[in-house]
Amino acid sequence: MTDRYAVFGNPIGHSKSPRIHALFAKQTGQDISYEAILAPTDGFAAALHAFAAAKGGPAKGANVTVPFKEEAFRLATRRTARAEAAGAVNTLSFEAGAIIGDNTDGAGLVRDLKNNLGCDPAGRRILLLGAGGAARGVILPLLLENPAELVVANRTEETAARLALEFARLPGCALSVKPDGIGFAGLTGRAFDLVINATSAGLSGAVLPLPTSVFAPRCVAYEMVYGRATPFMDQAQAAGARVADGLGMLVEQAAEAFFVWRGVRPRTARVLAVLREQA
Ligand code: ATR
Repeated sequence: MTDRYAVFGNPIGHSKSPRIHALFAKQTGQDISYEAILAPTDGFAAALHAFAAAKGGPAKGANVTVPFKEEAFRLATRRTARAEAAGAVNTLSFEAGAIIGDNTDGAGLVRDLKNNLGCDPAGRRILLLGAGGAARGVILPLLLENPAELVVANRTEETAARLALEFARLPGCALSVKPDGIGFAGLTGRAFDLVINATSAGLSGAVLPLPTSVFAPRCVAYEMVYGRATPFMDQAQAAGARVADGLGMLVEQAAEAFFVWRGVRPRTARVLAVLREQA
């Protein structure tokens, strides 16, 4: 019997995940199916349970995307440390009555940086823009790479400060976000080797009021949004930074989920190239 997987979201029509997982399954010879399921905004739990109970092969897991990641976190009966740190779950595994919640987004970003972009976060001065769910999800995996510093800056300064403080006090973790989060104005005169845009500003085409100084020479500017050129990418390019979009993170978080479920790590370079060709 074919093991079944799905991605839940709203909207979900344009999700690339079914295509990505189909390519991974073909490459690794794993017998799985993977479908996209549109859940009503107030009906995620019901849709997930219906999927788990449906006939046609055992349901083994699911990916979860906007706007259900926090609900998936609450629904999970057990959670990994990286899911706890993220406060959100994008990968569920169904195991003998348990629903295990994981979060592969941060690992996906780190893998994309290191393996696809040749940008090892170790020793780098990192600026993380944004203090919402997307930013929160990548802080622990970035800290574990031992950057020289990690600064969180956000339009609403208090939100950045709160987030930074939370990670400064992470139980059992010697690493911390330093200094406390700041607003964009506080970035004046500061320079970073890696600037990651985890705000949703790119989706609305909004320009971030960033001083050009944040982009150090040979800086990598990473935009989590993919499929469009955002004002942040334009700003970074004009400042001489090397610019990357979030398509690699999408493929790598999927590969990490595939590994969690199947114990096999797919090779991602060809899959990423196929998606770029189709973009
Ligand atoms: P996500 O899950 O994508 O992180 P979110 O939790 O709603 O979504 O967070 C959105 C983030 O993008 C926030 O950091 C938000 O800044 P505020 O805390 O000040 O609201 C940021 N953001 C969205 N639009 C922005 C804009 N036009 N300029 C600057 N920051 C913006």
